[in-house]
Amino acid sequence: MKIFIDSADIGEIREAAEMGVIDGVTTNPSLVAKTGRKFEEVLQDICDVVDGPISAEVIATDAEGIVAEGKKLAAMHPNIVVKVPLIADGIKAVRALSQEGIKTNVTLCFSAPQGLLAAKAGATYISPFLGRVDDIGGDGLELVAQLVTIYGNYDFDTEVLAASIRHPVHLVRCAEMGADVATIPHKVILQLLKHPLTDIGLERFLEDAKKIPG
Ligand code: E4P
Repeated sequence: MKIFIDSADIGEIREAAEMGVIDGVTTNPSLVAKTGRKFEEVLQDICDVVDGPISAEVIATDAEGIVAEGKKLAAMHPNIVVKVPLIADGIKAVRALSQEGIKTNVTLCFSAPQGLLAAKAGATYISPFLGRVDDIGGDGLELVAQLVTIYGNYDFDTEVLAASIRHPVHLVRCAEMGADVATIPHKVILQLLKHPLTDIGLERFLEDAKKIPG
């Protein structure tokens, strides 16, 4: 399973990259806005730190505009993946971009039929937002499971990129189901590492190490 970090904060991204646990990065306009920095500068910094797929989201919502913006973003660095919203014009743009060999991440997926159409259009990744489905009383993990099954049934090349992951159990369940990728916030990466018995055990070992002669 590939793990991406869902962040535009270069400090967080650098720290996760140094741990050697991330294969790529996803960003979105809300995450970039939080940095207070220019989009292009943030993207350039991320490309310098991580050698893997880096999703950059378009702002245009018409097919022509999405394609034009997507081409500009893709020209910035070979690792850039153009993130496109799951709307009719987005799907048209995904078809056009994929025909030109430009990778896409179709974002804001909340249903299996939406995901099926994204794969038909040639999306490189589909991003089901499982946490946001849970937020409105749905079952986000079920959506991930449906997409894994549907893509598997027909050998679609589109990879399931589980997004909007809120806690370690989401990640573990996605891994069990065979999601290709999970994108997770920095906070959740740290939660994944944490176990109280590790901390207690280490404290004891370090205390006992002091008693070893020599
Ligand atoms: C994914 O690409 C999105 O940036 C992200 O996972 C959204 O997560 P949120 O629902 O926690 O904002």
